[in-house]
Amino acid sequence: MQIELKIFRYNPQTDKESRFDTYKVDVDPSDRVLDSLMHVYRNEDGSLAFRKSCAHGVCGSDAMRINGKERLACKTLIKDVTQSEGDTILIEPLRHLPVQKDLMVDQSEFLSRFKKVSPFLIPEEKPPENGEYIQSQLQRDAIDDATKCINCGACYSACPVLDTNPDFLGPAALVHASRFIFDSRDQGLDARIAILDQPNGIWACDNHFECTKVCPRGIKITKLINLTKREIKKRKGE
Ligand code: SF4
Ligand code: FES
Repeated sequence: MQIELKIFRYNPQTDKESRFDTYKVDVDPSDRVLDSLMHVYRNEDGSLAFRKSCAHGVCGSDAMRINGKERLACKTLIKDVTQSEGDTILIEPLRHLPVQKDLMVDQSEFLSRFKKVSPFLIPEEKPPENGEYIQSQLQRDAIDDATKCINCGACYSACPVLDTNPDFLGPAALVHASRFIFDSRDQGLDARIAILDQPNGIWACDNHFECTKVCPRGIKITKLINLTKREIKKRKGE
């Protein structure tokens, strides 16, 4: 079948304004959107910029907006986003981050927000005598969902709070905070509370659930945020 790709184009170094370029491509309905972008890059326009690495839904680098929804191009089949021959697929970069070129965004700010929540294990000073921190299956299950995050930025783009409050820490950083706060081996809640317990921290989340809807790993982001809010209130005796 033949379809059209309508792709956002913008090079801040040379373009005054962004535009959309349209390419007709022959595809199989079971091809991935990433395949069609690669086809354009190899055969039509080698200046098209986008990120990809694993091509199997693991690295998170090809998150973009496809028909207005945040998705991984390598996990999205043509038949998922078209109805019939001649359909157009609209492809845009993630929102809330500056465009570096075309579909590539500058992830610096997104990644810097992870660092703020200390996304690493903060164990007790004295390690266990046998040198190992043992967890039960239940304790491991408590952090399982949050460990699936691949830092793709889809939730950050979909978050309506960031539309009006660009200083909000954002859903992904809160997922990473919860990952460690609910780890039975971690003792870093107090250090993280200082960052989370702020108007632009966890309390800015309004429960829109848009992050949860787009997460390609199926992480229940809003639920994790609400559990973390409850944990902070508990710790503060509220
Ligand atoms: S929580 Fe989901 S949507 Fe957000 S960065 Fe992680 S994997 Fe991507
Ligand atoms: S290229 Fe790695 S997740 Fe799509």
